[in-house]
Amino acid sequence: MSEPFYVTTPIYYVNDRPHIGHLYTTTVADVIARHRRQAGRDVFFLTGTDEHAAKVADAAAQQGLTPIAWADRNAEIFRATFARYGISNDDFIRTSQPRHKQHVQRRVAQLVETGDVYLGEYEGWYDAGEEEYVPDARAEEHGFKSPISGRELVRKKENNYFFRLSAFADELLRLLEAEPGRVQPDARRNEVIARIREGLNDVPLSRTGTGDWGIEMPGDPAHRVYVWIDALFSYLSPVDGDERRRYWPASLHLIGKEILWFHAVIWPALLLALRRVPGNEWIGLPRQVYAHSFWISEGRKMSKSLGNFIDLERLEAIVARYGLDALRFYLVGQGPMGVSDADFAAARFDDLYHAELANKLGNLVSRTLHMNAKFADGRVPEPGPPGEPERLLVAAAEAACRAVDEHMERFQVGRALEAALELAGAANRYLDEREPWKAAKDPARTATVPTTLYHCCETLRLVAHLLVPFLPATAGEIFARLGLAGAERPAVPTRFGGLASGLATRKGEALFPRVEPPGAG
Ligand code: MSP
Repeated sequence: MSEPFYVTTPIYYVNDRPHIGHLYTTTVADVIARHRRQAGRDVFFLTGTDEHAAKVADAAAQQGLTPIAWADRNAEIFRATFARYGISNDDFIRTSQPRHKQHVQRRVAQLVETGDVYLGEYEGWYDAGEEEYVPDARAEEHGFKSPISGRELVRKKENNYFFRLSAFADELLRLLEAEPGRVQPDARRNEVIARIREGLNDVPLSRTGTGDWGIEMPGDPAHRVYVWIDALFSYLSPVDGDERRRYWPASLHLIGKEILWFHAVIWPALLLALRRVPGNEWIGLPRQVYAHSFWISEGRKMSKSLGNFIDLERLEAIVARYGLDALRFYLVGQGPMGVSDADFAAARFDDLYHAELANKLGNLVSRTLHMNAKFADGRVPEPGPPGEPERLLVAAAEAACRAVDEHMERFQVGRALEAALELAGAANRYLDEREPWKAAKDPARTATVPTTLYHCCETLRLVAHLLVPFLPATAGEIFARLGLAGAERPAVPTRFGGLASGLATRKGEALFPRVEPPGAG
């Protein structure tokens, strides 16, 4: 069996409906999962919903529904949305599922037994929107306002179970310094290290007074497991069984930057504590956490009141206009992987759609297949001896294959996509140089035509191969037009020259038809 690769997205709160941010993280994780599958890895790709937050119960109450009725409805919207957007997740975890609740209770009971969880009193600055305490120093630094939403923090005192996070500071620091790849990008890891150095407080692991919504604290039904602890275990609960244990530790937790602390500090500390329990030796630490930045929209922070919020309706309108793969192209190519936020701008979307998809990729597909119909009877021709332009094209193809893999290794999905499309650009330039439409009428050059068309068809196959993780439907369509079946794993090698001569090719409609700009027509 090939090496396992386990990638996760955050599990999303069901108090609200999915929007571009949720779709973004999930799409990038999908690209990574598809790329690893294509390389033959044994992939497990998980997404899901986080249901026990107090704000979920509040939203339900406002709708006059029970929390579980509201959670069922919204979890289904998330699940169906991801299916609709072609996300290839292997499972969908809901924290209200029995498999998850039982897991959390068992693991928390183990932490009580080791003494890493204890009953105590806590007073601190509470961020109600994020459902977390903000350490005193940080609260002061932000003027006692939420560092995330800017809303007033409240002073709160609770009798809670606590997790002994303070005991893990040294070990966490050692790990982060010895293995910088664990938390990426570097700038984010450095922020985490600096905060750990300021000192770690123990953190609440339970809550009271939130009704009965949530997972009961084992042995103390007056308490519910704090929603963030509950949520973090959603990465482990689906693989905590003989069938799937091979996937742990997770290869990659892909998240947004606002929830890095939970993933880079609290989660590994919980696992370090659990690991000490006999029988838990297999519970290693996730290999990598990658925290991307945020989408803003038309130059400003997304907000419902500004009217620039990209919700499901807006996303659907984009898909109706440009197609699903075009949306993936923009999200993955222009999105906020790395430390800068990214702007979703309708005009830029339109420009890039036409430049990269219609004029570069779409045009290459249509030129190649039309000429192949006209000058090679719609069959992949037999190539003659290569000249200098062919050698350059082959070198460009090999460089593109390497570049895509290298960028993907570092989760530079935008650059990887760019490198794949750049190969289509190289093939267009090659065609312009060889001019088969003229060469076909010039007796001195007619012999070059089959060679030229073969090289275009073969480059197209490789472009499609490289695009499988990014634009799966488009890649599948290109394979089909080249007479190849099976988008995910072409049966032919990825080396240049793998395409068999004689396959029947098909012209088809424009893959990316021109679209009137938004606002026009
Ligand atoms: N339920 C917690 C996560 C628990 S994980 C164990 C949560 N949920 S959430 O519904 O608020 O989703 C947050 C995530 O959605 C972010 O971490 C990020 O992945 C994604 N995004 C939400 N808004 C975003 C943008 N504006 N831009 C990009 N992604 C963002 O937090």
